[in-house]
Amino acid sequence: MTEQLLTIQWKNDKLVLLDQTLLPNEIVYNEYESLESVWEAIRVMQVRGAPAIGVAAAYGVYLGIKDAPETSFDAFWEVMQKGTDYLATSRPTAVNLFWAIDRMKSVAIDHKTLPISHLKERLIEEAIEIHHEDEEINKQIGENLLGLLKDGMGVLTHCNAGALATTKYGTATSPMYLAKERGWNLKVYADETRPRLQGSTLTAFELYQAGIDVTVITDSMAAVVMSQGKIDAIIVGADRVAANGDVANKIGTLGVSILAKNYNIPFYVAVPTPTIDLETKTGKDIPIEEREKEEVIKGFGAYTAPADVAVYNPAFDVTPAENVTAIVTEKGIVRAPFAENLRALFA
Ligand code: MRU
Repeated sequence: MTEQLLTIQWKNDKLVLLDQTLLPNEIVYNEYESLESVWEAIRVMQVRGAPAIGVAAAYGVYLGIKDAPETSFDAFWEVMQKGTDYLATSRPTAVNLFWAIDRMKSVAIDHKTLPISHLKERLIEEAIEIHHEDEEINKQIGENLLGLLKDGMGVLTHCNAGALATTKYGTATSPMYLAKERGWNLKVYADETRPRLQGSTLTAFELYQAGIDVTVITDSMAAVVMSQGKIDAIIVGADRVAANGDVANKIGTLGVSILAKNYNIPFYVAVPTPTIDLETKTGKDIPIEEREKEEVIKGFGAYTAPADVAVYNPAFDVTPAENVTAIVTEKGIVRAPFAENLRALFA
């Protein structure tokens, strides 16, 4: 078992990210000193996973304003507005990106009477706070989820809602780390997660490194392991939960939820409250990112289909609330009726 790798660090006024596009083969940390470079890191998925995107974006916002004019708030705000509008175009689905940007903007507005140099300090403090909060939130999600599991269970997860997608612990993986600390043996099945393979390159990588019992399966094997009675619970993360409890998560999650229903297996969604978007009414209102066709037909380096063939590559899908057993947050476990109970969580 080796030391946990840090997804995001803030060092000497620079953002340091573990390049997730190179895992599990190479461990490379890159430094980012501008908002534009953070935009690119999010876009190409050097940093990915909703909470990690939110934390990286908060630092990106600061990098975008650190050299902004200090003559007046208006001159400063013009730079902040322009930068944040641009950062918001990096990826569309994970609401944590917009949540972090809005939180940073609110801090600027609330402190607009400060000298701009002090306002800048306040903003980096806020980004660091967002970063540290994420770790605490994830630990609490894990504690709450652990109450739904038992030693010896088989758990299936899809994509990477792990430590690599967050500051620490992950969301869906948090109970797996806590279970390990308590001497439990959970048997984890990680869907490979085509086309970007976050399940095998990231989830299997980080759980294996931590000494957790993890088995990789291709996405098409999920039904068989469920039919064989190997899975007692499914735990996934989310990029956005709508006000009615519909859940956007990595493409393939919908299929897993349908299988779970068929085999009577509880389907849990692990989310920090910043991933819940009460402004988005239902799953139909969640923007779903479509990515380059090469991810599907050239994902292994060489073409696996004719180069010019038509490809459909939505990066996320929406699991209807009716397929969800519970949404597990740091503030508690939410069950149906989701619309009412999610609202109560923020009351
Ligand atoms: O495209 P990605 O890798 O950013 O997608 C990540 C996921 O779908 C995760 O499951 C989700 O962001 C939750 S991470 C705690």
